[in-house]
Amino acid sequence: MKHSCVKTAIPGPKSAALINEWHQYEYDACGYQASVVWDRGEDCIITDVDGNKFIDWTSGVLVTNVGHCHPKMVKAMQDAVGKLINSYECPTEYRVKAAKALMEVAPKHMGKCFFFSTGAEATEVAMRIMKRRTGKFEILCFETGFHGKTAMAAAAGGLSGPKKGFGPTVPGVIRAIYPSAYRDELGFCDDGPDFKKYFNYLESVIAANSVGSLAGLIIEPYQGSGGFNFPPKGWLKALEKWARAKGILFTLDEVQAGYGRTGTMFACEHEGLTPDLITLGKGIGCGASISAVIGTEDVFHAFGRGEMSSTLGGNPVATSVVPVILDIIKEQKLVENSAKMGEYLKAKLMAMKDRCPKVGDVRGMGLIVGVEFVQDKATKEPATAEMIHAVIDRCAAKGLLVGSVGRYGNVIRVAPPLTVTKELIDESCEIFEEVAKSL
Ligand SMILES: Cc1ncc(COP(=O)(O)O)c(C=O)c1O
Repeated sequence: MKHSCVKTAIPGPKSAALINEWHQYEYDACGYQASVVWDRGEDCIITDVDGNKFIDWTSGVLVTNVGHCHPKMVKAMQDAVGKLINSYECPTEYRVKAAKALMEVAPKHMGKCFFFSTGAEATEVAMRIMKRRTGKFEILCFETGFHGKTAMAAAAGGLSGPKKGFGPTVPGVIRAIYPSAYRDELGFCDDGPDFKKYFNYLESVIAANSVGSLAGLIIEPYQGSGGFNFPPKGWLKALEKWARAKGILFTLDEVQAGYGRTGTMFACEHEGLTPDLITLGKGIGCGASISAVIGTEDVFHAFGRGEMSSTLGGNPVATSVVPVILDIIKEQKLVENSAKMGEYLKAKLMAMKDRCPKVGDVRGMGLIVGVEFVQDKATKEPATAEMIHAVIDRCAAKGLLVGSVGRYGNVIRVAPPLTVTKELIDESCEIFEEVAKSL
């Protein structure tokens, strides 16, 4: 049975009218998306206002890990909405249960958590904790990293988009290369397990840029917005060792990678990392506006009363879903499914690469796979924006929703909900290959 079904041109008439109306009132500063007005979501399927059905490879930007509108999640939110919508800093049963459930699955060395609303907020807080706890102000960050669009998060990011045109960024950021195999001009990736070349380079970056006030570092276990860049095996552990030797704090940004996306509950499990702080967002609420910072007992002592809370952070509606989502992940074995289906999906896309002249690289871990489009496989010249827009539009016309990321905007993100099945992968890969060959 086919799951996707497109009965109209894209956009369909209702979508076209709504997009037109939208543009009259709200400024469209969104990234390039298929011209589809979403109406309903059910598991891995999105239905638009014209009744077309699409397989979703976006998870609404890696958010809906348990599938769109999971009935148990919907019920939890509906119950909470009927009782209490906001409580600011006053604890609620929802908030207490959420914190308990989160700390039960958190890496064992962690002590406490605190809830916020967005990933960027979690980044800001983690960076402030690192500065306050150490009394220092420099943070090591990475090229092509992304941690959010607020001022300090944007400063920490290594992409120009969130910073361009806004003048000087928050001082104290020191930036180094994030090694990733496909575009590894300096040969950092094939130098394990010690990565001497990389750490010599890193020492020279610090020597040239630090004023002797290094507080910590913030890093993604794989770079999401930067183009699904995966570091070589063992490098993150080596970086953690380096940080420990320097006496600086280590924040792992799992806003995107956490909650089963990479085939383990948290990405830090792959290499047995023990970060001082982990930031979470996206999958923790699967669409509810919630993020969190998890930290060791020691780092949280940097903050006193009233110093971390925000108006909507940890509100009853958002926290109501946290234990429910964790139950769903456990009951439906979604971490295991992510690892298993991820292997299947990646193998299919790897095989496809050889058949498609414009697919330069396929890389991934669990249910996060990046397909990098190029103009020429030998030169690796990135595909143009027009080519990528054509992929997005043509996939939508055939019933598949995809989005793009990366420094050059040429990486298609393949990130369906963790509930995805073989059948859905087969159907969606068929559509994707047809489109990739049509370029
Ligand atoms: C790794 C990472 N950190 C932080 C953020 C910021 O999250 P938010 O958009 O919820 O502020 C994102 C968003 O894409 C992200 O991918």
